[in-house]
Formats: sequence, structure tokens, C-alpha cells
Amino acid sequence: MVSEVIASKVDREQLRDQIQAKYCDVAKKPEQGFHFHTGRRLAAMLEYPAADVDALPESTIESFAGTGNPFLFGKLHDGETVLDIGCGAGFDTLQAAQQVGPTGHVVAVDMTDAMLEKTRLGADALGLTNVDAKLGYAEELPAEDGSVDVVISNGVINLCPDKMAVMQEVHRVLKPGGRFQIADIIVQKPVDQDAKDDIDLWSG
Ligand SMILES: C[S@@+](CC[C@H](N)C(=O)[O-])C[C@H]1O[C@@H](n2cnc3c(N)ncnc32)[C@H](O)[C@@H]1O
Repeated sequence: MVSEVIASKVDREQLRDQIQAKYCDVAKKPEQGFHFHTGRRLAAMLEYPAADVDALPESTIESFAGTGNPFLFGKLHDGETVLDIGCGAGFDTLQAAQQVGPTGHVVAVDMTDAMLEKTRLGADALGLTNVDAKLGYAEELPAEDGSVDVVISNGVINLCPDKMAVMQEVHRVLKPGGRFQIADIIVQKPVDQDAKDDIDLWSG
């Protein structure tokens, strides 16, 4: 049986403000501690190979805040164009850029400036010239129709009340036959409407 999904009533702009404030702290004060795991310890829990993690700048690793490992579905290929939705400090973006090589390209999208800045600094530190960090929203991706081979994302779509809008954008930007490799949080039973409408439960 398919039951009707009633949208959350949270104010989208207010939620974006709260999420930006939280992830600005993850970027600038990663040592302060959060209600979720971060950093090198999280990367080990999520089965990222130690060699892949060690190849990244420490400032990238310390602000990692993903929920899984999108590369467990397969590494990316030479020359591919990738879009990372909610790139954060660039933990997956920089690995993707290394995997696709200099003939490939990674568009890293995030709505938090402090995170994008860390992604740019990380790419510079590794001498990667194939990363383009762009301010934008998962629900309005800054990419042309049918321009991307692989969309990756890690721990972001659970923060988006309008999941259908995100999926439509993923479908729009992917080339025919393109891939979508995401790690995120799922729930296996319906969430009460009261909980869906509680902004503090969205932004943590
Ligand atoms: C849990 S962190 C994960 C960051 C990164 N993917 C990682 O694995 O470390 C969520 C990130 O998504 C960004 N974000 C949340 N909602 C977003 C949205 N609607 N559009 C774009 N970015 C968003 C936040 O700014 C934050 O950097």
C-alpha cells in the first residue's frame, strides 16, 4: 500500500539559515563536537580506505560529516564529469577529482560559504585544477541539463524537506545512463507529521 506523503510545514528559508549556521561551525570549529560523528574517526567507521583519507589535507578530513561512502558503489572513471551535492569541506569531492583525473571535472555544490571555501583550499593544496566549487542548492542545481556522468552526495538529502525537487534536479542534470551514487539516512517507518514539522529535528 502506498500512503500519501504530506509535505513538511517547516519554513524553507529559516531551515536553510539554521543548517548554514550549523555547518559553518563544522567548517570553522570542527573540534567543538556535534551530535553526529565527524572527521577521521567517522571516515574509518564508514570504510574509507586509510590510504585515500591520508591523501587528503587535514583541514578537509576534520570537517567530514557524511553518513556513508558513495564510492562503495564503485570508483569513478577517468574523464567523467561529476556533481557532488552538498560537498561540505570537499572530502568526497577531492577523492572524486583524483579518481576522474585531469581530463575529468567535479562540480562541488553547497549552500554554506565556509564549506565551499574549505573545498577550494583543499583542491589548491592538492594541486587539483578540475574542481569547481559553486554556491547553490540541492533543489536548484547550478548545472546544465544532461551535463553530468555521475551525481554523488553524502549526508545531505536528509536535510532537504522537498526530496522530490532534489530527485528531479538529479534527473535533469544527469546524462542518459548517468549514475547516482549517494549515501544518506533512510527511515523504515513513517515519520509523524509533528516531527516532520519540527524545525529543530531537521537542523539538529
Ligand atoms: C552532513 S554535511 C555533509 C557534507 C559532505 N557531503 C561530507 O560528506 O562531509 C551536509 C552539507 O550539506 C549542505 N547542505 C544542506 N542542505 C543543502 C541544500 N539544500 N543545498 C545545498 N547544500 C546543502 C550543508 O551546508 C553541509 O555542508
